[in-house]
Amino acid sequence: MKQKIIAQGAEAILYKKGKTLTKDRIMKGYRLLELDEKLRKQRTRKEAKLLEKAGKIINSPQLIKLNEKEKIIQMEFIKGKKLSESLDGLRNAVEICRKIGENIAKLHDSGIIHGDLTTSNMILKEESVYFIDFGLGFESHNAEDKAVDLHLIKQALEAKHFKYFDRYFDAVLQGYKVSKGWNEVMKRFEKVEKRGRYKQAY
Ligand SMILES: Nc1ncnc2c1ncn2[C@@H]1O[C@H](COP(=O)(O)OP(=O)(O)O)[C@@H](O)[C@H]1O
Ligand SMILES: [Mg+2]
Repeated sequence: MKQKIIAQGAEAILYKKGKTLTKDRIMKGYRLLELDEKLRKQRTRKEAKLLEKAGKIINSPQLIKLNEKEKIIQMEFIKGKKLSESLDGLRNAVEICRKIGENIAKLHDSGIIHGDLTTSNMILKEESVYFIDFGLGFESHNAEDKAVDLHLIKQALEAKHFKYFDRYFDAVLQGYKVSKGWNEVMKRFEKVEKRGRYKQAY
């Protein structure tokens, strides 16, 4: 079967073959060899672990195989539309944003912080929103970490979907209300916002 390159990011090359998506963490030339090995291994392992956990809670690609030695993750290929490119044209965009908020709430209630919440890391398949790319994710029950996650999606919406940003972010928060941590996280969120612009360090 033919293999097709889907994306080539800073961290990884992604191939599609049939219904399988392979994420291959490539070597970074500027890092020391040993450190590079270690980092790629850790991140691959962590991403696979989170993918597996998230899949039990929300829609995300099924983990097929983890190869720590080769730093390769195989997962289900999600056939759909990337939200970064499609959201603004959808008649039910606000409803989709509410689902995004619900997904975030479910992850957070299970102690998963996505770490890179942007519409480039979300795929719409039929009426379902799939979250992908847990490469910067981690496990935490901390309200601060959850608030920063929300702040990241807010910034991402503002940057990429500025035209409808207010409506979209209101809907995300509406969806997030299902979280059992709502009150505490919202308090924290206000503090994070006051602190000013926040950028994920990596
Ligand atoms: N499981 C998947 N199904 C379909 N497309 C995917 C899948 N995983 C990744 N992609 C595509 O590859 C791109 C890059 O993958 P991602 O995991 O976000 O890597 P990066 O860390 O480089 O951002 C995504 O934006 C998406 O277009
Ligand atoms: Mg990504």
